[in-house]
Amino acid sequence: MLEIQWTSDQPQPATGQVLAVPVRAEFEPDALEARFGPGVRAAIEAAKFKGKTSSTFDFTRAHGDVLERVLLLGVGDGLHDAEALRQVGHDAVRAAAKVGATSVVLDLQADTAAWTVGDDANQAGRLLAQGLELGTYAYDRFLSEDNRNPSSVARVTVWADTTAPSEGTLAGQVIASSIARARDLANGPAELVTPTFLANTAKEIVEASDADVSLTVFDRAECEARNMGCYLGVAKGSDEEPRFIHLTYKPKGASKGRIVLVGKGVTFDSGGYSIKPSDGMLDMKLDMSGSAAVIGAFEGLAKLGVAYEVHVLVAATENMVSGHAYRLGDVLTASNGKTVEVNNTDAEGRLTMADALVYGSKLDPDLMIDFATLTGACIVALGPYIAGVMTEDERLATDWMSAAERSGEHMWRLPLQAKLKEQLRSKIADMKNTGERWGGALTAGLFLSEFTEGKRWMHVDIAGPAMASKAHGVTTAGGSGFPVSTILELLSGDIQLG
Ligand code: BES
Ligand code: MN
Ligand code: ZN
Repeated sequence: MLEIQWTSDQPQPATGQVLAVPVRAEFEPDALEARFGPGVRAAIEAAKFKGKTSSTFDFTRAHGDVLERVLLLGVGDGLHDAEALRQVGHDAVRAAAKVGATSVVLDLQADTAAWTVGDDANQAGRLLAQGLELGTYAYDRFLSEDNRNPSSVARVTVWADTTAPSEGTLAGQVIASSIARARDLANGPAELVTPTFLANTAKEIVEASDADVSLTVFDRAECEARNMGCYLGVAKGSDEEPRFIHLTYKPKGASKGRIVLVGKGVTFDSGGYSIKPSDGMLDMKLDMSGSAAVIGAFEGLAKLGVAYEVHVLVAATENMVSGHAYRLGDVLTASNGKTVEVNNTDAEGRLTMADALVYGSKLDPDLMIDFATLTGACIVALGPYIAGVMTEDERLATDWMSAAERSGEHMWRLPLQAKLKEQLRSKIADMKNTGERWGGALTAGLFLSEFTEGKRWMHVDIAGPAMASKAHGVTTAGGSGFPVSTILELLSGDIQLG
């Protein structure tokens, strides 16, 4: 973890320290010349630095008796939303590490930054600290020593007119470490991150926690006893043991309500007999990103001590091809008694989630939210950076969308049009698991709605933003840890319940 402090006194220059100065696209070159001396304007112009978000220009100047490294950090149209604050923290640390710095002074009092703390100083501190920590993230478990490049940055001093945001620093660092946990789980190859590995990780989290947390894990036999036929249908084809994971957190004081979070935990999705082409299978170790997000968030919410009772559920399994795999045309019976004709074994996520939702509904929750890399169709609809949010519950949607906005993560609502249920009609079972091509994200959501047993519920399809084909924003390539930040923001505030 970084050592982060806030100060309103000008920090002294030092060797190995970078002074990072946010610069808006509408900056005044005169102001930079006045501050850093003549020549800066010409150098910036020659380098075509225009203050675009995440663009940088760095130079060294003599300052007293040290050579000070100055990093101009583009912040586009300014630091006025959650995304921009996370971004500038991330960019400052990443760019400083590139030049081998051990410490960073982030100058938020600079005229060019034009930053004002706004009415929620604590939140500003949380967001900035999140970004700073994420600037150090790398998945290097499988790199040999020579090829590892751990961040050189150990200390950050935020220089601003007010130090009020420092109160949010620790929470921001906790959120970032939850995001890193989710990324590590997602980025792990399927050979490593098996259902058993997910369960063991949950165990480690519980054992390391001093909050009121507990863990229950069901093996195949126990899931059979609970009639989780849809989940087990998917799990049949794999030699890896399925693991149904149930994490529980209870707050210290009175609970404000009971929340169930379900994450899709398909540790590898080959498609089964409806097999994926090689290109489509390449990233399918990431098909447990929903479970990574809820397990990562669980670790964070216990550290933050949120005021809700939270249950995290993951029906973890692989989706494989073998002599004992489920077939097209098979009929599965879910734990609520509904039967499903399998017309596509690659629509496995909704089958695993079905039994997890039924189980969740029996916990008498005030609300349930599920997160799943469920459909390619959702990526077609919203692109790679925006999650699809589906619910009929207006209050829940409002609370969630505003938490997303405060976290700098992008979500968009999609409709659960009841008429599309006609696509799921089966001649021999209560429903099929797959509809037609058009509206694929919505029929997946409608399928899930058959297993929520009348509870307040929201479905978040994270197929796009959970997986990054290249680094963008505060995200490295691979698993992004989306939407851990929004989950923890939601649970840190007041949710409309009852
Ligand atoms: N895990 C995939 C969805 C997915 C695809 C996530 C690409 C991220 C990137 C899911 O299990 C799946 O295969 N869905 C099918 C559903 C179809 C068979 C109705 C899909 O999207 O093609
Ligand atoms: Mn699939
Ligand atoms: Zn899948």
